[in-house]
Amino acid sequence: MDNLELTNNRIKKLFERTKNNQNLLLIEATVDTGFEKVAIEELLIKFSELNENDYCLSPGRIYFCIEILELTKINNLRSVDNFSIVIYSDNLNFVSDKDEDLNIFKDLANTIEFSKGLSVWSNFTDCPIQFNDSDSFTSTEFKFRITGIRSYKHAFTSMEAASHFGGVINDRFLWPVSMVEFHLEILLYIVADRVTVALKLTRRSNHRRNIAFFGPTTLRATVCYNLLLLAKPKPGDVIVDPLCGGGSIPIECALAFPETVIFCGDNHERAIERTCNNLEAIPNILVHHFAWDATNLPFKDNSVDVIVTDLPFGKRSGSFSDNRVLYMKILIEFGRIAKPNVTRMVLLTNDRRSLLNAMNKNKKQYWNKGQLLAVKLGGLKPLVSCFKRNKLIYEP
Ligand SMILES: C[S@@+](CC[C@H](N)C(=O)[O-])C[C@H]1O[C@@H](n2cnc3c(N)ncnc32)[C@H](O)[C@@H]1O
Repeated sequence: MDNLELTNNRIKKLFERTKNNQNLLLIEATVDTGFEKVAIEELLIKFSELNENDYCLSPGRIYFCIEILELTKINNLRSVDNFSIVIYSDNLNFVSDKDEDLNIFKDLANTIEFSKGLSVWSNFTDCPIQFNDSDSFTSTEFKFRITGIRSYKHAFTSMEAASHFGGVINDRFLWPVSMVEFHLEILLYIVADRVTVALKLTRRSNHRRNIAFFGPTTLRATVCYNLLLLAKPKPGDVIVDPLCGGGSIPIECALAFPETVIFCGDNHERAIERTCNNLEAIPNILVHHFAWDATNLPFKDNSVDVIVTDLPFGKRSGSFSDNRVLYMKILIEFGRIAKPNVTRMVLLTNDRRSLLNAMNKNKKQYWNKGQLLAVKLGGLKPLVSCFKRNKLIYEP
């Protein structure tokens, strides 16, 4: 069995479990591709009762079974963007004939069981829904839309699958379709033969939290959280983002790990202003922010526990030739302020070559390489590199 088949079967199995248990739900959460394992790490911290049989991951998504009574706890998850309740997942027998395959979606829309998922969705989103005597909840006021998402080869497009599926839902419940002003968004995922249907719980992606003043390279809050979690922050840690742009990493750090001491800075006037404005927009947040040069930081030697930063990529910020020099200098400066054998450092960059060059060419090597994550962000494929400070004593 290949990976795709294994994943499809695993999702199907998780769904079967929730289908046979009125108290259980299968939740699907989206995450930037590459961070799925980090999202699972957070899940296991926040839902400590879960074990390896209760979740699985696929590119850009994690799936987990939870008790309906626990559902509001998903609001505590910071690594993922959107949540939905899975109301169907199975492998279907597509035959590569457009009409026949589209009929499969019509049959599915006629038979799929909505009541459990819809009543939980209605409670969670505070959107009342009129349940009639039978399993029906017909309404001409309740609007819906279907979003089709498809990968691998099929004889139909995502739009065609969504419109055939949606047409029957409309006939069945009389709900009008509205692409913009809808109450319910139904997701139709088609991954090779697997079809998953889910009711979306989030109206707005969680990555939009925190930031009021955006810059050209503002990171998503969920990505910031994932970078921070990789550095394993502990209460009392001194955490630094030396190239903070508009402050998205330190702000997420202050909100997610409030028992840490956070410093950040940038050398660009506009970025410093944005950080100030973003911090002012959030009440009761403590981040020490500075105008500084990351190659010459105002910290004593051996004084910082964690460094998490998003380096100039050389595309929207910085240039590849500047980066060669900058990366060499900051690795030494970060080595100076870091505590031997203690400091964890997580760097995000699209300029892999400059980072590799700096890693190999620096005469003094203060950093041991750890995990590497190839992620996908806004059309780019940057690398997340985790490091641990080694025992070498800093010498100027
Ligand atoms: C990729 S951006 C960081 C974006 C940030 N994470 C955000 O979400 O807004 C890199 C930042 O490094 C800053 N920078 C470049 N060289 C620097 C240096 N020598 N010292 C301090 N900051 C520097 C740039 O001004 C830019 O704001």
